[in-house]
Amino acid sequence: IKPKPTIFMIFGGTGDLAERKLIPALYNLFLEKYMPKEFAIIGLGRTEYNDDSFKKLLLGGVNKFSRSGKADKDKWADFSKHITYLKSDVNNEADYKKMSDVIEKCEKDWSEPPIIIHYLAVAPKFFPIIAGNLAKVKLADDTDRTRIVIEKPFGHDLQSAKELNALLKGIFAETQIYRIDHYLGKETVQNMLAFRFANALFEPIWNRNFIEHVQISVTEDIGVEDRGGYYDGSGALRDMVQNHILQVLCLVAMEPPVNFDAEEIRNRKVDVLRAMRQFGPDEVRFNTVRGQYSEGWVKGEKVEGYREEKGVDPESNTETFAALKFFIDNWRWQNVPFYVRTGKRMHQKASIISIQFKDVPHLIFPNQSSESWQQNRLIISIQPEMSIRLQVQAKRPGLDMTLNPVDMVFNYDGTYETDTPEAYETLLLDAMKGDQTLFMRGDQVETAWDLIMPVLENWESKKSISFPNYSADSWGPETAEALIAKDGFHWFTMPIKKSEKK
Ligand code: BG6
Repeated sequence: IKPKPTIFMIFGGTGDLAERKLIPALYNLFLEKYMPKEFAIIGLGRTEYNDDSFKKLLLGGVNKFSRSGKADKDKWADFSKHITYLKSDVNNEADYKKMSDVIEKCEKDWSEPPIIIHYLAVAPKFFPIIAGNLAKVKLADDTDRTRIVIEKPFGHDLQSAKELNALLKGIFAETQIYRIDHYLGKETVQNMLAFRFANALFEPIWNRNFIEHVQISVTEDIGVEDRGGYYDGSGALRDMVQNHILQVLCLVAMEPPVNFDAEEIRNRKVDVLRAMRQFGPDEVRFNTVRGQYSEGWVKGEKVEGYREEKGVDPESNTETFAALKFFIDNWRWQNVPFYVRTGKRMHQKASIISIQFKDVPHLIFPNQSSESWQQNRLIISIQPEMSIRLQVQAKRPGLDMTLNPVDMVFNYDGTYETDTPEAYETLLLDAMKGDQTLFMRGDQVETAWDLIMPVLENWESKKSISFPNYSADSWGPETAEALIAKDGFHWFTMPIKKSEKK
């Protein structure tokens, strides 16, 4: 179903997010005929542009970042007819009046009243002023027709997240607020729902009786790039764990929803967060590890340590790596450890969920070497490889009964010919259609903050004496290996393909 006529008001229209993600996503939706016939994209920013120079800027972004490659001249011309630029200052009330005039014009000319999406692609410090001004000029009515989309960080801690929620909810209803977590828009992450709840095979064994432990590992090979200033005030726990990783964990651990309604799915997810075991001082001490990268060599080139990066305090106490062991106190998951880790400048870029099943109760095959024995594992690779593999033991061809692990693989590449949409395409289309399933609800955000606050407070109150404690291009601090090894497990890593070898 095509969405209704829509106006996108992009605050921060000349910024990085608009150029890299939003416009390429909208352009691809247009190419694939998902955009409604009547739509407008209004870029808002303080920089001096006219419509033409603004479109030129955006075209540069599409050519560089769109998955469909360089834009076709005619198609871009058709698409860009819908784009205008409005020079405006978020602090200036009079500029909001200009915005309403543009909207009114569309309302007059179009076949039906449009959906109005205010996309706040700006720093969070501008959220209050923009939301307040939208309300003043009546661009934020309380019908579902008006929507506001915001990007993380949703607060800096529990207190500020509550304040942000209170502010937004004073102006918009929860059904009008779309909090983007781009991980939820990734194909492989959405497939968690299909895989778990469209197959009869897995659900009966998806619990503490059969699953020994779960790992969620999101490692990145890049450093903090040009975001040192932001990152140094944030760190891995805030940047990745509070949002992306906990959202993925909820999809792995949630109870089966009774239907596919946004509220039902979000209720089941928040149930998981509520059941997660709180961290006391002992859990912080024994079940968490933090790290910070030092200089090192990546692909033959020397890279700087975190403390030498631009915008970073040379004595920074901010973690660029975090590993935690979580427990979920409910019937399904009692005492099943959920290990999560994430880090920058690690050896490999890979986002992986690994679910390890318990061992066979009794082994009838004698003389098997422990190296070739692997308990059953389900490996969901979110990126860069998009695959699901079930690792099982099998007989190796030969005259004796020697077993070894083999993979039953579902790989997106070999299975589907169609190109995978970018997360932002899925999420922007959902925002237009009014489907909030893949967006974070206010209570989810607060519950996730509540869970990690004791860890954050502990880490911030004690300067790490060991920083930096892992070198660029490694697998993180040794203590992260120890966190999982003391329970008898190892972090799962994807075999590096020959073509990716450094
Ligand atoms: C962002 C974080 O939310 O996610 C970044 O702020 C991180 O620090 C990025 O690099 C990772 O996203 P992806 O899609 O590249 O895994």
